[in-house]
Amino acid sequence: MRELTIDSELIKKFNPIHLEHHEFLPITVENNKLITAHTENATNHHEFIRNVGQVTTGYDTLFYSIKTERLKHELKLIKQGIYHRMLVSEKPNQVAPRGNILSVISNKGGVGKTTVSIELAHQFARVGLKTLLFDLDLGNADVSNKLKLFPEHTLYDFFNKEKELEELVVRTDYGFHFIPGECGEFKLANMTWSQKQRFFRYIQKIAFQYDIILFDLGAGITRHVIDFALMADDSCIVTTPNDIISGYAAAKAAFMRFIEINSKISKDSAEEVGEFIYAPWFILNQVNNQRHGTSLYQSLSKTIDEHVNQNSIFKLNPEFLGSVISDRALLTDTYAKREIIGLKHPNSELASNYRQLTHQYLGSNQQDATPKPPRGSGLMRFVRMLGGARS
Ligand SMILES: Nc1ncnc2c1ncn2[C@@H]1O[C@H](COP(=O)(O)OP(=O)(O)OP(=O)(O)O)[C@@H](O)[C@H]1O
Ligand SMILES: [Mg+2]
Repeated sequence: MRELTIDSELIKKFNPIHLEHHEFLPITVENNKLITAHTENATNHHEFIRNVGQVTTGYDTLFYSIKTERLKHELKLIKQGIYHRMLVSEKPNQVAPRGNILSVISNKGGVGKTTVSIELAHQFARVGLKTLLFDLDLGNADVSNKLKLFPEHTLYDFFNKEKELEELVVRTDYGFHFIPGECGEFKLANMTWSQKQRFFRYIQKIAFQYDIILFDLGAGITRHVIDFALMADDSCIVTTPNDIISGYAAAKAAFMRFIEINSKISKDSAEEVGEFIYAPWFILNQVNNQRHGTSLYQSLSKTIDEHVNQNSIFKLNPEFLGSVISDRALLTDTYAKREIIGLKHPNSELASNYRQLTHQYLGSNQQDATPKPPRGSGLMRFVRMLGGARS
């Protein structure tokens, strides 16, 4: 057994209602991990506890089990201002990775998808999440170009059936793992139906080895790009003040495909159909200041509501992940040295913006945002569709 002292300052940062309701107790921070005690009843709340832990402390959570009575007793003492030492078992409980896939898309090229994907991958890894950045800009290998990382094997070898996805994973110096795209002629647009099917199968295998997987997709709203975007649990549309109309078009194109896929699935199934909500995140990149980003998002959201949301069972509910200010000089200089903003300039406004996006994303389950579909539902959507005819 290990003895740990409950950190009173740490406890004060948490909402007591969360602690009681979700039956967990933050104890201390050790080696960049938030150590928590939780009861057996809290096992289903791991995802929530990790999110709250990350948003509150910036760290990933380690879970140690304790008995319900013990936890209740400690919470009672804490309310009276008494902070005990606690005994926890030697080893934390194993918690399955979340397997959450986030795709990054845009209609227009060069709006900042790859930069945002790299910086977000770093931020997720920094708070302790096992992160994989997937360069799905096939033919352009955009992440490789930016980080000057050109591993021998790429997705091209996967699609040629020479390698499995696991064999393509490389570690980077930035905290996250990476699967490289291909430089050359291979394009998503050229992908055959069976290649796409194979990808869907294999990505399911790899997804649950990671907490979070980012898909950096190529520009445009072709069927293939949108299908990859919708395979993810969440999609993120990057747009800039100069490309608001393109951002709107990307959301609409993804939504149309979302309707098409879900209509097909519900036609093939006997289940009763409820409401279908597609809730992509928007990132306003290269803004003058935060207020600028927020007001652009608001007008975008209003336009969508007025022009798209006519159909009763399908809804497009865009959400705002946040804005990133424009600082081309810092980005160009940093990336020219194979550095990234989050590591090289952690105190810059850009880094703070990227951190804020990460926190918004991780904290989203606690807000009154659109309820998120269960993890893996994007993939399941495609698996169910693939069970039917080619489409
Ligand atoms: N916040 C920002 N401020 C200023 N410049 C930016 C910002 N974010 C990205 N850029 C610059 O914009 C250019 C395009 O960025 P990036 O390659 O990330 O875009 P992309 O959407 O991935 O492009 P593509 O469509 O070609 O894949 C780069 O030169 C990058 O440094
Ligand atoms: Mg790119």
